[in-house]
Amino acid sequence: KISKHKSQLMIQLRRVLHDESSVFKARGEGSNPYNVEYSGPRGPYDKKSARELVCALKKKGLVRTVQKDDEPFKSLGLEAHLPSHQLLHEDKIYESCAVVSSAGSLLGSDLGRMIDKHDIILRFNHAPTREYEIDVGHKTTIRVVNSQVVSKPEFHFLESTLYRNISIVAWDPSKYNHSMEQWYKSPDHDIFTTYFKHRLLNPETDSYLLNPSTLWDLWDYIQAHMPLRIRRNPPSSGFLGLALLLPHCAHVDMFEFIPSFRMTKRCHYYDNVDDISCTFGVWHPLSAEKLLLLSMNIANDTAVFRDGYIRIPGYQTLGC
Ligand code: C5P
Repeated sequence: KISKHKSQLMIQLRRVLHDESSVFKARGEGSNPYNVEYSGPRGPYDKKSARELVCALKKKGLVRTVQKDDEPFKSLGLEAHLPSHQLLHEDKIYESCAVVSSAGSLLGSDLGRMIDKHDIILRFNHAPTREYEIDVGHKTTIRVVNSQVVSKPEFHFLESTLYRNISIVAWDPSKYNHSMEQWYKSPDHDIFTTYFKHRLLNPETDSYLLNPSTLWDLWDYIQAHMPLRIRRNPPSSGFLGLALLLPHCAHVDMFEFIPSFRMTKRCHYYDNVDDISCTFGVWHPLSAEKLLLLSMNIANDTAVFRDGYIRIPGYQTLGC
């Protein structure tokens, strides 16, 4: 059952990657909403070792958050609204970290106890734990939230207890070559107003804004290791979560980022919407991310395809 699921999944991931890349051929340059200009290498992810791939990510994928002294925020007198340090700034390596994707295949997984054993547990957007503890655990250390969740009233970013007493990393994409000033003037969604308000209302919550050039550094990294051209949109927050933790953890376990044989069409464990493109990608270059992460994984096939997690060794563990 495991090997059948694995081979079908690999076929599907490669097919999506191939189809996305053929769009470039069919439509010339295709759509490029973020003005991505990439002329770097495109390499074979499956010919490199996990160590080579993880260490290459260390070189390229340093996750930065916006700091007090960053422009234009300093000149605009917004310093008091921004943190003076980076997330996980202490010089400490955590033994085990978990990234909990919000995938539908977490439902019925019974992974909650295993997830809760990790020192750091990162979740996304409005993914709940209440009523899903058996499958996803109940602890949360960090929540990575996108600018729609921050800015749209239906997500109750200012009111909900989901976004309190933990660390928050909020992100919004800039154009590929834009400065922070340009991003501040034209964000995808107005992340700033609510982010600043949230900090004022919740001084005990450690919250950060992602420096958006981080997203494009990660995109470059993914493209550099894919033989085919990938979609020119930011990586998914799952990939961002991994890049955020690798400098600080001996290893990172990612739950149901690579779908186990519980995979169905269901998008999220917490709502009953069927949409297989949540798993294979329709906007993010998600299939490329998943193929790359399978090459960085050191867990065996039973762990990945039956239990539902991949394990990526941290930078320090590999001595990168
Ligand atoms: O949908 P949302 O962005 O909140 O999900 C958080 C992350 O979990 C995604 O960015 C993606 O990396 C991962 N995910 C997935 N498969 C799904 C749903 C989410 O890999 N079916």
